[in-house]
Amino acid sequence: MKSANTKILAIESSCDETAAAVVVNGRDVRSNIISTQIPLHTLYGGVVPEIASRKHIERIDNVIKMALSEADTTLDELDAVAVTYGPGLVGALLVGVAEAKAIAYAAGLPLIGVNHIEGHIAANYIEDKTLEPPFLCLIVSGGHTHLVQVTDYNKCTILGRSVDDAAGEAFDKVARAIGLGYPGGPKIEEAAKSGDASCVHFPRAKVSGNPYDFSFSGLKSAVLNYLNHLSMHGEAYNPNDIAAAFQEAVVGVLCDHVAMALDETKSPHFALAGGVASNGALRSSMQEVCAKKNVLFHCPAPIFCTDNAAMIGAAGYYAYLNGNTSGWDLNAVPQLRLGEKS
Ligand code: KG4
Ligand code: ZN
Repeated sequence: MKSANTKILAIESSCDETAAAVVVNGRDVRSNIISTQIPLHTLYGGVVPEIASRKHIERIDNVIKMALSEADTTLDELDAVAVTYGPGLVGALLVGVAEAKAIAYAAGLPLIGVNHIEGHIAANYIEDKTLEPPFLCLIVSGGHTHLVQVTDYNKCTILGRSVDDAAGEAFDKVARAIGLGYPGGPKIEEAAKSGDASCVHFPRAKVSGNPYDFSFSGLKSAVLNYLNHLSMHGEAYNPNDIAAAFQEAVVGVLCDHVAMALDETKSPHFALAGGVASNGALRSSMQEVCAKKNVLFHCPAPIFCTDNAAMIGAAGYYAYLNGNTSGWDLNAVPQLRLGEKS
């Protein structure tokens, strides 16, 4: 029997997590199952798309069954099925999209295609049940770095984005270069705790044109050049020091951009989102920036920062309220941009 509440089954398979969740009214997470493939991809130093798709196929049925069972619900109590349809790896996305279509069609439920980046933003609605647009949001993940003004639940204006590597990508590449392995973000964070950030000063790149745009490939190259220079001179280095100096540079650039945007937009709320938002150093520095400016700081719990399906259920709910349901021809869109609809 359906209730007055809106109960959504959400599915996420855009990269290396197979995830399903049941979310009520966009904010109340009844279950959040995440089957990570990280240990598998660690062997290869990064995500192998072919392996990711195969593992999603093997795991998705069970992950969905677990999400329904943990939420103590069945398909006939649901109101809709939401699924990430982009951006991401095409083969990985297709598994979730095909599964969501099959379930929604068989159960006679509306299908909602969700943009993964909008999902990351919506993770903030789970954390803070009172947060409402408008607010300024920085999304920092493995594939995306976006500074946006969220003007409504289904609308945002992009102030800046990375012109090359995403912030998380830079963490992953630098971690590989200093021998920390995959996934780089959490390993750099851990190493940086016992490192000395003042061992070297890495450049904070400015992008000409839009002051809100980011560039991280220059920073990554500066780290690689520094390591080459040391090795050519037969000098040893402490990876923890490099990790600390690199992390400080990334956090510095991100905080400067946010501070500038807060001054200009006068937004009373700021939210962090995406996998890199689980970084403790970034969270506390952003919190300080906000405190100085009397801005309320929001950030999802780390489990809702990295890829999960609950955030897709949150974004899916607001799309559903807005009547943004998808047709049965919904397809994976690997290069889907923020604000773009299929
Ligand atoms: O949002 P996410 O799970 O997937 C994408 O949509 O890309 O983000 C994954 C990215 C990876 O690059 C990973 O290294 C980074 O987030 N990451 C972190 C931390 N945890 C994950 N970066 C810095 N510090 C962390 N603690
Ligand atoms: Zn993500």
